[in-house]
Formats: sequence, structure tokens, C-alpha cells
Amino acid sequence: MPTQDATSTIFAISGSLRRASLNTRLIDEAAKLAPDAFQFDIYESLGNLPHFNEDHEFPAPPEVDDLRRRVRAADALLIATPEYNASVPGVLKNAIDWLSRPAEGQPLPLTAKPVAIIGASMGPLGTVRAQLSLRQILQKVDAAVVRQPEFILAAAHTQLEAEGLGPDSATAAVLRSVLEQLQILIEA
Ligand SMILES: Cc1cc2nc3c(=O)[nH]c(=O)nc-3n(C[C@H](O)[C@H](O)[C@H](O)COP(=O)(O)O)c2cc1C
Repeated sequence: MPTQDATSTIFAISGSLRRASLNTRLIDEAAKLAPDAFQFDIYESLGNLPHFNEDHEFPAPPEVDDLRRRVRAADALLIATPEYNASVPGVLKNAIDWLSRPAEGQPLPLTAKPVAIIGASMGPLGTVRAQLSLRQILQKVDAAVVRQPEFILAAAHTQLEAEGLGPDSATAAVLRSVLEQLQILIEA
């Protein structure tokens, strides 16, 4: 358990590979709004992860070793998910599938790991279905997911593409609150 003034490492994943991704932008906004004690390790290799294949688990590909090591080293995860066809993008599910499998001599990296879910979409539903889907997946792998508040950002391009959230916006307040809840789970 980290002490009150210890630094917490947050491993942050955007579920989008798109260069101008709103969800990647959201991760950047979260890093700006986060408590000083949070240090972000932003994952930029989601697109390089091999497709999960049981035939290739032992030995695991080096990209998977790297992902597992960084998740294990982190105090918590922050996942920003886009919504693809009412669920999470396949690349994000692929990463979780790798993380859900045993590696020789190592504990499962997501077991009891604090995780906060956020998401942004251009449409009116703001990733609500993707987030429900992601919650179900993370429940299965026994992660400790922040329950409230939910951060669901509809019409995200109108807020994120121009100047970002701005520190005093109502949206920024909800995002800050999600991160505070994540800190509570880390310290629990
Ligand atoms: C394959 C695909 C499926 C999508 N399905 C949905 C959907 O079910 N619901 C939704 O609100 N938006 C959907 N969208 C739109 C995305 O939410 C939108 O492109 C969003 O900006 C993607 O996130 P990003 O900006 O982080 O890349 C879909 C986009 C793609 C490419």
C-alpha cells in the first residue's frame, strides 16, 4: 500500500490507434488534471501488439512482456475507450486478453489492479455501451474498477478538438473526480 505522499504510477491506455484520437487526447487531459502524486506511463504500443494466439503464449512475444511488465509496475490503470459497434475496439480487447493469461512464474497483472474507465465519442452516447462492455471484461479479470463517477463524454470533438477541457469546466471536474476515486482505490 503506498503511503499518503508517495508517487503513484498510472499506466494509461487509449483504445484508439487514430492519430487525431479523441480518447488519446482525453488521456493527455487527464494527465494535466491529475493530482501531483500521479506519474503517467502512457502506452503508445497498442497497435504493435500481436493478435492474441494461444499457440504463441510461451514464450510470450516481447511486446507482450513489455505490456505485462508495465502493468505490473503501475499502481493503477486509466483506460480511455472509444466505442466501436457498441463495444470496445478489438485492439483494446486484444491487450486485455494478453493480460488475462498467465505468464510463467508471474502473477496475473490485472488481478485487484485499480482501473478507471473513461471514454469519448463524437456521437450522443459518449461510449456508454463500450464502457459497460469494458466493465464486464474487467470484472471477469478481477480488476478493481472505479464505480463512480462515470466519465462519458458525448460530442467530444466540440470540447476536445479546439482548446481541450479547460481546468474549470464541469467536464474537467468529473474527470478530476474519477482520478480522485482511483487514488482512493490505490490507497485502499
Ligand atoms: C468501426 C467503428 C465503429 C464505430 N461504432 C460506434 C458506435 O457504436 N457508437 C458510437 O458512438 N460511435 C461509433 N463510432 C464512432 C467513434 O466513436 C468515433 O470515431 C470516435 O471518434 C473514435 O474514437 P477516437 O477519436 O478516440 O479514435 C465508430 C467508429 C468506427 C471506426
